[in-house]
Amino acid sequence: MTSIYFDHAATTAMDPEVISAYVAAANNGPGNPSSLHALGRSAREQIAAARDCFAEILNCQASEIVFTGSGTESDNSALFGAAHAQLKRGRKGIVTTAVEHHAVLHACRQLEAQGFSLTVLPVDEFGRVALEDAKAAINDTTAVVSIMAGNNETGTLQPIAEIGEWARKHKALMHVDAVQAFGYTPFDLGQLPIDFLSLSAHKINGPQGVGLLYIRKGSPYQPMLFGGSQERNRRAGTENVAGIVAFAKAAQLASEKLQIRREHAEMMRTALLEGLAEQLGADHFVLNGHLEYRLPHILNVSFIGLSSESMLMNLDLEGVAASGGSACTSGSLKPSHVLSAMNFSSERLLSAVRFSFGLGNTREEADKTAKITATISARLRNR
Ligand SMILES: Cc1ncc(COP(=O)(O)O)c(C=O)c1O
Repeated sequence: MTSIYFDHAATTAMDPEVISAYVAAANNGPGNPSSLHALGRSAREQIAAARDCFAEILNCQASEIVFTGSGTESDNSALFGAAHAQLKRGRKGIVTTAVEHHAVLHACRQLEAQGFSLTVLPVDEFGRVALEDAKAAINDTTAVVSIMAGNNETGTLQPIAEIGEWARKHKALMHVDAVQAFGYTPFDLGQLPIDFLSLSAHKINGPQGVGLLYIRKGSPYQPMLFGGSQERNRRAGTENVAGIVAFAKAAQLASEKLQIRREHAEMMRTALLEGLAEQLGADHFVLNGHLEYRLPHILNVSFIGLSSESMLMNLDLEGVAASGGSACTSGSLKPSHVLSAMNFSSERLLSAVRFSFGLGNTREEADKTAKITATISARLRNR
């Protein structure tokens, strides 16, 4: 039974206020937003209110917001939608980074297979892209630049504003995956040189299976889904009304409490980091990620000499849910592409553990986890 949940970068529990908003919308009657009758109009009005809420939070126009079925769908739609629209203008270049989420990286690889030319920018040992590398890669043939705001494994932030300026100079479209950063970093789309922005509800205490894609007015875009004329012909399919209403509620709460969320996450991260140093000894682990340019809610450390899997399994047995830097695919251990891009030794790569914090976590949980981790580490080392 999990008693300490330190895996908020994977998903978060729905906030009670968000659940109430979801239930109220779901109880509102069987209204298809495309129907002309009163129930349909009511569903349509609820989506319009959710759109207005996001427009205010992001400082953009309501018409620039498209609701989707996930962060993954938003990323894919931005990439395919923008790349194919740009191809008509003779632009074939795609620029991204080696540390993007697979929702971006695999979509870029697919575009490459379709004939686009792909540049994957390297990162330094802290997981950050060099502005100079981005500038050298972006030119007048670039169709789309896709750079994440904050990394889901390490929390490292990228210089999206500076890269966006350069992309704009070259009339390349700029996409930002803000799935992990939203709720901890403000996004003012009136100021930021961004054409597309992806968000996901379940990372900010909203429901799973709801996403958002911001498409700047006038940006070339071809839809991925065809069918009805929902979302102004940019995303066909009957809208997830209750999910969208709940997403807006979660976003409203997250943006109102942004500073509190940041401070709480920072407190948790510091408490666990200090607890590990105290209980385990600072020479038994290394910090992965940037010291300055980082999200507050992610702590990635490598327990040198141990394996992520055994640490995670033992933490799980003790009721602590955390996550690893590697994925087990068809029985074989696959190191994290993010940490690999940071050029880590295989020892550091295969001993990485990610703790991520959020709503409801307490300092006592951090202290307890530090003690549990030290006990597990001693047990595994003495084997
Ligand atoms: C940075 C980032 N992008 C995209 C996604 C995908 O979002 P979703 O789970 O809503 O498909 C995730 C989810 O982990 C993520 O962390």
